[in-house]
Amino acid sequence: MSIEDVKIIELPKFADPRGNLSFVEQLNHIPFEIKRTYWIYDVPGGEARGGHAFRKNEEFIVALSGAFDVIVDDGKEKKRFALNRSYYGLYIPAGLWRTMENFSTNSLALEFGSIHYDRADYVEDYGQFLKLKNYGEI
Ligand code: TYD
Repeated sequence: MSIEDVKIIELPKFADPRGNLSFVEQLNHIPFEIKRTYWIYDVPGGEARGGHAFRKNEEFIVALSGAFDVIVDDGKEKKRFALNRSYYGLYIPAGLWRTMENFSTNSLALEFGSIHYDRADYVEDYGQFLKLKNYGEI
């Protein structure tokens, strides 16, 4: 997988004077079956999260509130995605190094995953990630 496979997906938005509504459906806006949902919140200023890659887990990330950046790296190229609208989702296939940073105050990152939590699925060392990429093992 490469940077080219990472996609911003625009979600439905029902603009309404009473308040807007957006939604996601698995195997529709989210191109996989959702096995897990988690969220990151109360991030202190200047902190970064998620410096790792997944071997199998695919992800879909929404900035439900506030803003943050997701930096995706395929071992050759890096790209920064600024998430700052609650009707945009970022799809990240497996096998890419990704980091989250620049969290605004009170930001809320909602993440959907394609597999259950499994620490063995994490690649946490960047050097190992590059080796796995070179050998085509991730
Ligand atoms: P981790 O994915 O390492 O966070 P980050 O990559 O943003 O630093 O998760 C932090 C902790 O939360 C870790 O100790 C394991 C736990 N955790 C779960 O138990 N289940 C989950 O689905 C996730 C995402 C994390």
